[in-house]
Amino acid sequence: MVQKRVLMVCLGNICRSPMAEGWLKHKIDQLQIPYSTDSAGTANYHVGEKPDSRMRKHALEYGCNIESLRARQFKQSDFDTFDIVFVMDASNYENVTRLCRDDADKKKVRYLLNELEPNSNAEVPDPYYGGEEDFRHVIQLLDKATDAFLKNEGYL
Ligand code: 4NP
Repeated sequence: MVQKRVLMVCLGNICRSPMAEGWLKHKIDQLQIPYSTDSAGTANYHVGEKPDSRMRKHALEYGCNIESLRARQFKQSDFDTFDIVFVMDASNYENVTRLCRDDADKKKVRYLLNELEPNSNAEVPDPYYGGEEDFRHVIQLLDKATDAFLKNEGYL
């Protein structure tokens, strides 16, 4: 069966998008469905780093292990590799769509929270400068959003 390939994108690829990737991978494995997922950041500040230690710690509390992930930067060829490019906020959307070569690329770029609230273009808040509660909030939001995505795809 042909795999559907889903890329999660945020700014640094150390907080939101690795967590989104972690949740989706966790659910893909549980459901045994022909999907794959990865994540990337529009910036290069944290390339090669593990997810933020606060996100890793809280992810484990929620039963999702993101220890093995490493940050990388989004690149134009990701439009060839992936079927869907989910962004977390408007700034990610601008940075990713700036690299689109044509309409086919642009059609792949979607706000992740539109899975939960269609057409809202709602944003996953950046927890980087926040506290523990901000990280927990993002983890819960990404759990709901990845569930909604799989439901919209006909699973769950
Ligand atoms: P992320 O969070 O985009 O969710 O990975 C951030 C991580 C690092 C920075 C900003 C946001 N930073 O400015 O270094």
